[in-house]
Amino acid sequence: MNRSFAAIALQLLLLCTSVQGVYIYVAQYSGNISVLELTYNHFSGTGSPAYVENAYFAGFAPDKKYSLSLVDNVQTPATYPAWLTLNKDNILYLVDGVTTGNGTLTAYRTSSNNGTRPPIELDSVDCLLDGAYAGFYANGKALAVAHYTSSTFQTYGITDANGKIKPLQTFTYTMSTTGSSTFHEARTDPLEQYVLAGDLGADKVRIYAIDDDTLLLEERKPLNATPGSGPRHGVFTQEPIRFADGGLDYVFCLGAEIAGTITAYPVKYLPSRGGIHFVPLPNSTYSSLEPGVPKSDTGGKGLTAELRLSPDGNFLIVWAIVVMSVSMALIRYDLQGKLDFVQAAPAGGYIALTYDLNTGGDLAAVGIQMGQRISILERDLGSGLFKEQVAYIDLDDEIWGVLWNDKVND
Ligand SMILES: *[C@@H]1O[C@H](CO)[C@@H](O)[C@H](O)[C@H]1NC(C)=O
Ligand SMILES: *[C@@H]1O[C@H](CO)[C@@H](O)[C@H](O)[C@H]1NC(C)=O
Ligand SMILES: *[C@@H]1O[C@H](CO)[C@@H](O)[C@H](O)[C@H]1NC(C)=O
Ligand SMILES: *[C@@H]1O[C@H](CO)[C@@H](O)[C@H](O)[C@H]1NC(C)=O
Repeated sequence: MNRSFAAIALQLLLLCTSVQGVYIYVAQYSGNISVLELTYNHFSGTGSPAYVENAYFAGFAPDKKYSLSLVDNVQTPATYPAWLTLNKDNILYLVDGVTTGNGTLTAYRTSSNNGTRPPIELDSVDCLLDGAYAGFYANGKALAVAHYTSSTFQTYGITDANGKIKPLQTFTYTMSTTGSSTFHEARTDPLEQYVLAGDLGADKVRIYAIDDDTLLLEERKPLNATPGSGPRHGVFTQEPIRFADGGLDYVFCLGAEIAGTITAYPVKYLPSRGGIHFVPLPNSTYSSLEPGVPKSDTGGKGLTAELRLSPDGNFLIVWAIVVMSVSMALIRYDLQGKLDFVQAAPAGGYIALTYDLNTGGDLAAVGIQMGQRISILERDLGSGLFKEQVAYIDLDDEIWGVLWNDKVND
């Protein structure tokens, strides 16, 4: 096809498009939150040769063309913005990863003009150092923050409609025989009775029972992970799984950063919020990067980072830090919670520290830490596979956190 004909075909296609915008918040090492807008044009037909020229679409016939642009840059009180999360009232929380002095936790209003205006700061409190993650509990009334080098797990009440943050509890751990505590995550179980905090340095997942009235936490017996494995993130299956013995249990999949593995534990709830028992199963540890038998160790290089479940609950998506890849494992409900490795897909750059899936689960925004790039990957909802990088943008500094505003977490 000659180029002028391709250009005409392109113009005709653009006439029958519809454009929608969605916003992505990015936490950058520079101290800023950047707001990106992703728009896409729908084609009524697919596979236009005009678009095959576009490097994005080398492999498949597209039905959308995406474009990603920077719309706002907001300076924050955080020295090193590290983690972002959004509640159901459109309040955005930013955790500071600074490692000297004091950290900050900051709340922003995002909903003005449907999120098209820059986030507006509502409140900011000083806190301990090296915040790594923040997760909601008690139906969004409280926020738990994991602090890495401070060896601390801190909670806040966030019931105020104007975004005021009220410090509640601090759990600090001193050096133990297994090493110093370094918290990497804080998330609830499917019944929202507990907060679980991955403590990489102590090789534990610490468990706290929630008091829904006072929002206070009380510690229960932890899950002891394999010594030296470095548990970082864990996710539960969306639904309980029917086991051969007739039991119906949720399965907790725990990612170990240092060992580069995922371990699946069926869970038993103890009565009266007395804790969670994690049932150890034989052969239930898998390599997070390749199919087959687990690799016992990756030499302490640090591999397995964030773990999330796809919105349909069928896929566990594992992000690897050092290799240029994304790997996924399919949770097979019929095989006693066994994980079945499906794909390792390129993430679009060196050190994909963080990512977020949109509500539909068909797009992932990947923060390429060292490349200072946000890469958008398209994902096929039928097979669950990642297909292709469909857009990217290069920003000014290292990227530590990324979040779609098309969904809320509670
Ligand atoms: C951070 O945001 C401020 C305010 O918009 C802007 O002046 C500054 O250039 C930004 N810094 C970087 C590194 O993008
Ligand atoms: C916000 O979005 C809703 C739903 O799309 C729309 O009805 C409303 O007009 C929008 N408001 C503004 C201020 O853009
Ligand atoms: C600020 O840092 C100091 C020294 O680490 C610590 O003692 C103090 O508790 C921190 N402030 C808050 C509000 O966490
Ligand atoms: C666990 O794996 C080993 C080695 O592959 C095998 O010999 C053993 O039968 C397996 N155990 C179970 C319970 O599947």
